[in-house]
Amino acid sequence: MGLLTQQPPPVGPDVPAEQTIPPLPRLVAVEGAASAEKAEAPAAPVDVCDTGMDRGVLLDLALKTAFTVPQCNTEWVARQLHLPQVVAGELLEQLRTDHLLEVLGQAGPFGYRFSISQRGRDRASRLLEVSGYVGPAPVSLAAYAAFLDWQLSHASRVTPGQVESALDSLVLTPEAAQVAGLAISSGRSLFVSGPPGNGKTSLGRLLHEALAGHLWVPHCLALESSIIRVYDPQLHQLFDVRAEQSWAVDQRWVCIRRPLIIAGGETTLASFDLAYSSSLRYYEAPLHLKANGGTFLIDDFGRQRVDPHELLNRWIIPLEHQVDYLTLHTGQKIQIPFRQMLIVATNLPPEAVTDPAFLRRMGYRLRLGKPSPEQYADIFRRYAARYGLAVPQDLLARLLARYRAESRDLRACEPRDLMERVRDICKFRDTPLELTEELLALAWVGYFGN
Ligand SMILES: Nc1ncnc2c1ncn2[C@@H]1O[C@H](COP(=O)(O)OP(=O)(O)OP(=O)(O)O)[C@@H](O)[C@H]1O
Ligand SMILES: [Mg+2]
Repeated sequence: MGLLTQQPPPVGPDVPAEQTIPPLPRLVAVEGAASAEKAEAPAAPVDVCDTGMDRGVLLDLALKTAFTVPQCNTEWVARQLHLPQVVAGELLEQLRTDHLLEVLGQAGPFGYRFSISQRGRDRASRLLEVSGYVGPAPVSLAAYAAFLDWQLSHASRVTPGQVESALDSLVLTPEAAQVAGLAISSGRSLFVSGPPGNGKTSLGRLLHEALAGHLWVPHCLALESSIIRVYDPQLHQLFDVRAEQSWAVDQRWVCIRRPLIIAGGETTLASFDLAYSSSLRYYEAPLHLKANGGTFLIDDFGRQRVDPHELLNRWIIPLEHQVDYLTLHTGQKIQIPFRQMLIVATNLPPEAVTDPAFLRRMGYRLRLGKPSPEQYADIFRRYAARYGLAVPQDLLARLLARYRAESRDLRACEPRDLMERVRDICKFRDTPLELTEELLALAWVGYFGN
């Protein structure tokens, strides 16, 4: 008698599992946590064939999982692999038939207790030398690419209202706000330049907020036996979908907020390659793979320890073809989707760090120059209001006159910076927070150093 309560469908040489499964996962409607709206989620696989994965890859992973503990049961293995019990049961049954596992007894109505056999141990050790990955089962690269494409084609349109509310905290010219809105709604890339402190980073981060909704990403991808970790708890933010629905959902996928990934001055070209850990023997996805479905902000461009032209050339093919090519440590090249809003921000003169071939491929370009005196005053009043401070009459006029007298360019970040120093002074003196000429003059000297 077989161990399974439910017999798996026949899978043999004449029924090639991979070819019978279309790459797009089956979908199931679940209820969102935030509202009663229905959302599509990848449906839990009903058997090994339905996972869309090579059976051998899943068997190897199940064996390595069993190898990590003295004994295990079906339910535990299912939880480790993020697969339904019936699927884990099918894998364990196969491992038992192959004499890699031994049955110790029944565990619950649907499962068994197992321990790994000596033969299983030998095989698991050899497998771990090739790939050290033990964890949630992977999805195929084809399923990842197809589902990403499906999700983006079904994502709600970015509306002018969403852009307006995302950029609400910034004071921008109507033109700048429109270009930024066009970039995010079209999904085309955006190149932002301008002197320091005038809102490039803020605009990049805030613009992302206009991308509403969630995205399903896999814990990991597999390409033959190579595993690439995609979901990154440090960079991705979980988005709730009601837990009680979870039995219906394929747990190999995670529901996240559409990602915002920022590559700052510390970035090297290696950040855009697969990172192979020789001790763990599997790959970590590069930043732009983790940014798929969201926004990828390359900030402080030109300050990286890489030649800026080399860094820009890296994006020419992805921008043109919406795919990128990564190299496995075996030398094999793989094609991954590049489906994200790329924002490149720099305070260096664009002519110095870019070339026409690159700029031609950027969807939109935006220069955030110094604010006008009126914009500066607007930003100043907004910050004062945020701190609950009254702005005395003439204070702003005298502040702007001081900029002129010292031939100092206005910067959009300075109202905040000066007010923060006023706050420091009041705190230090233990006096109530207020805005006066005297406090602002001291803040000025402390900030500008004259
Ligand atoms: N247009 C603006 N409206 C309101 N506040 C702004 C604006 N621009 C900048 N600020 C304020 O200045 C701060 C610094 O701006 P931000 O870091 O975005 O500048 P940046 O252009 O990226 O500078 P850098 O070139 O030095 O990186 C922001 O956090 C925000 O408080
Ligand atoms: Mg910046």
